[in-house]
Amino acid sequence: MGITILGIESSCDDTSAAVVRDGVLLSNVMAGQEVHRRYGGVVPELASRAHQQHIVPVVDTALQEAGVTVGGLDAVAFTRGPGLLGSLLVGSSFAKGLALARGIPLLGVNHLMGHVHALFLEGPEKSPQLPFLCLLVSGGHTQLMQVTEPLQMKTLGKTIDDAAGEAFDKCAKMMGLPYPGGPVIDRLAAEGDPRRFSFAMPRVGGLDFSFSGLKTSFLYFLRDELKKDAGFIEKNLHDLAASLQYTIVRILMDKLVMAVEETGITEVGIAGGVSANSALKKAVTTLGEERGWRVHIPRPRYTTDNAAMITMTAYFRYLKGSFDDQQITPMARMML
Ligand code: KG4
Ligand code: ZN
Repeated sequence: MGITILGIESSCDDTSAAVVRDGVLLSNVMAGQEVHRRYGGVVPELASRAHQQHIVPVVDTALQEAGVTVGGLDAVAFTRGPGLLGSLLVGSSFAKGLALARGIPLLGVNHLMGHVHALFLEGPEKSPQLPFLCLLVSGGHTQLMQVTEPLQMKTLGKTIDDAAGEAFDKCAKMMGLPYPGGPVIDRLAAEGDPRRFSFAMPRVGGLDFSFSGLKTSFLYFLRDELKKDAGFIEKNLHDLAASLQYTIVRILMDKLVMAVEETGITEVGIAGGVSANSALKKAVTTLGEERGWRVHIPRPRYTTDNAAMITMTAYFRYLKGSFDDQQITPMARMML
């Protein structure tokens, strides 16, 4: 009947479960957490409690939608890290319990590798051909990967300070926008002028990124303008969002172009929460057309955290027989 895997993602504030059979996604169920909104960021303790409430119904629904029973599972996977420890513990404990009870293999998946595997969720024809480059842009990470095999990836460059998502979220917070700010900036930017304001571009060598200079430049700019006019942000909301977004996308695209030139690889993907950004998608698509790249962009629902991508990684690992035992523990910090 093929290999059927249940995967669980609980690294931050979304509880998600998915079922993959033979590399084909059968279901992907998500439960978000509204409780954090009023705090302007994710509150770890509240997140892990909400995961506990959501995990059983979310897994149940994922199995039902896939038409699979617990007895029909060949393995169970979970996000091992990086993420919030309390949140990761909920998913890992659940998966360990299920693996033990059913006597099936257990797989603790690297969340970052999962984001890259979101590019494999549309079936073999639409998946990137190997080797390919992947710009991984999330709330906590920004790095350029060279993928030679599904499970073999090398980091060509990464951020030396903030992640791209953090730059969106922190600057949005300075503008008084709700968390997470990335999608809000994206929406506001649609009606703004991206060239209206300009902010500091980083000078980091090689394929590394930096966003903290932009954050500071944005902060000082707002502070100075607010001194002159207390209504500055409100009056220029759309242009501020568009200009900020334009700068972040430029920083990312400069390095992506450099990576393509250095490696000669023209199969290019983007992944992670920030890859939902419309200006980023447009920029990489346009570059692809101009320069003859084959560009891969996950569907919006597979860009931010989801169990589908985690379960896809688990599938690749299952094929290699790379399983974990019950001693495995979640890890707040993990590299790719
Ligand atoms: O991958 P993800 O869901 O979680 C992490 O693993 O970090 O990424 C979340 C990040 C947040 O910083 C959020 O603001 C950003 O992705 N994000 C966006 C958009 N949608 C989500 N940033 C810019 N534009 C968007 N449309
Ligand atoms: Zn993520």
